[in-house]
Amino acid sequence: MKRLGILTSGGDGPGMNAALRAAVRTVTSRGATMAGYIDGFAGFVEANFVELDDRAVGNIIQRGGTIIGTSRSQAFLDPQVRERAATQMRSDGIDGLIIVGGDGSFRGALALQDECGVPVAGIPGTIDNDVWGSDETIGFDTAVNTALLAIDQIRDTSVSTGMMFFVEVMGRTSGAIALHTAVAGGAAGVLVPEATDQTGRLVEQLRASISRGKRSHIIVVAEGDEAGGAFSVGAAVGKALNHPYRVVVLGHIQRGGRPTMRDRLVASEAGAMAAGALLEGRTGVMIGRQGGRSVEVPLSEVVSHQHPQPNLALLQLAQQLSG
Ligand code: F6P
Repeated sequence: MKRLGILTSGGDGPGMNAALRAAVRTVTSRGATMAGYIDGFAGFVEANFVELDDRAVGNIIQRGGTIIGTSRSQAFLDPQVRERAATQMRSDGIDGLIIVGGDGSFRGALALQDECGVPVAGIPGTIDNDVWGSDETIGFDTAVNTALLAIDQIRDTSVSTGMMFFVEVMGRTSGAIALHTAVAGGAAGVLVPEATDQTGRLVEQLRASISRGKRSHIIVVAEGDEAGGAFSVGAAVGKALNHPYRVVVLGHIQRGGRPTMRDRLVASEAGAMAAGALLEGRTGVMIGRQGGRSVEVPLSEVVSHQHPQPNLALLQLAQQLSG
């Protein structure tokens, strides 16, 4: 292959730029070139791309977001649109495509490969850490560390005033950010979509710890918890305990910012390996992280599995350690 394309798709995550940089520089070091599609599959459909050479990806390893933009493209769901885009890609001299995103993006990538014969490679990039076949996804570590920073600061106020804080973190369908943030942030409780009917238990646990004299309470709520977001959970629990509380929704603060060492490292390996796979003629693979190593995983297996469950043992651990 002489020329590859790359795009970032779905929600952005810190570390995506590091993946772009690594993929581009791997490609150029082997005498090939790289096109960067603008705004994910939307740019792919419109043949809207820029040339990414070594200099174009300079000074980005430390930047959050993605320099080529991202989107959740609807047009790409249409098989005819995909066919037209694949034909256009070939006439632009692009021989294969790297997709950085979540499993929805990989479904699109696989359709492109199976229906239109486009060689594809995936890199799991989403703060939600919910891609099958990878222990972690690019952006997750930074997002959890960002949430932790906020919780450490909120705790100062909680200790000073005795108010209870309900902190909402991202994760519409995944409790991974909430669980890791809760344990690492010393939270008094955590609510996630994967464990239902937990509010009653939380109320009793908080009642007991208040009566033992505990002054600071942080409760982490995943946005997708079935009891509702932090506002509804806070209202229900605050009323049940007749205790003053405040709500903080961290929102997109978690999606941006300087990637951690871990996200930069994992992204750099994944970018280099995804480019390497395509240049060496291997297609339909995702570069996942398993047991501390970056490995090739068949994309067909990734998309045929449900989202992996987060480590629900962290739920008990947070409770056990809450004091
Ligand atoms: O990409 C993952 C994610 O950040 C989820 O955690 C969150 O629910 C969703 O994206 C928010 O999406 P949007 O930015 O489109 O509102």
